[in-house]
Amino acid sequence: MTIDTYQFDDLKLLSPEVQKLLPDQYQLRSLGSNDFARGHLDVLSVLTQTGTHTYHDWLDQFQYMQSHADTYFSIVIEDQALDRVVAVGTLFVERKFVHDNGRVGHIEDIAVANDQQGQRLGLRVIQALQYIGRQQGCYKIILDCATKNIPFYEKCGFQQKESQMVMYTSSK
Ligand code: ACO
Repeated sequence: MTIDTYQFDDLKLLSPEVQKLLPDQYQLRSLGSNDFARGHLDVLSVLTQTGTHTYHDWLDQFQYMQSHADTYFSIVIEDQALDRVVAVGTLFVERKFVHDNGRVGHIEDIAVANDQQGQRLGLRVIQALQYIGRQQGCYKIILDCATKNIPFYEKCGFQQKESQMVMYTSSK
């Protein structure tokens, strides 16, 4: 493996409180360039279909997000003893004209490896993204989720508001 580069480099965006609450060998950090090999997509596959990526396809997307590091904040929790990604999540920061050129944080693609669920890693990922959202000056943080996950997000401090709508297009 080459030395990792990170999707974002600002260590001040990583909540020290969340790090303290993780089990000993677990580390909160930005998504890294070697996380494909550490099972990043395997973790995401508990959420939805991930596609048929090669490493190069994955790296293209990683590098795009890396070059937009003021907009995308992709984090992982790594089990350092096993060199394995165990939980993932992303905050996307949208800039708006309303609310005095306000910013809204969108929480996306939250997943915890099947064999790691129930240890509050999902909660820690959300707390870490909320911390980044506050640091980035987001006046609100929103997300879409399945009905079965509402109790989880309520435990993370969210409340239900309004409705989600979707239209699938013919693009893949
Ligand atoms: N129903 C009720 N309570 C729940 C549920 C649930 N479905 N899931 C978690 N909780 C509770 C836990 O009991 C815990 O409560 P406690 O603090 O009182 O003990 C609290 O929520 C925190 O739970 P965690 O242990 O942090 O949950 P976990 O690490 O298992 O992660 C997650 C939850 C992310 C939903 C995980 O189960 C997962 O990866 N599921 C599959 C993928 C998925 O659905 N991701 C969310 C997509 S939505 C989005 O990305 C915006």
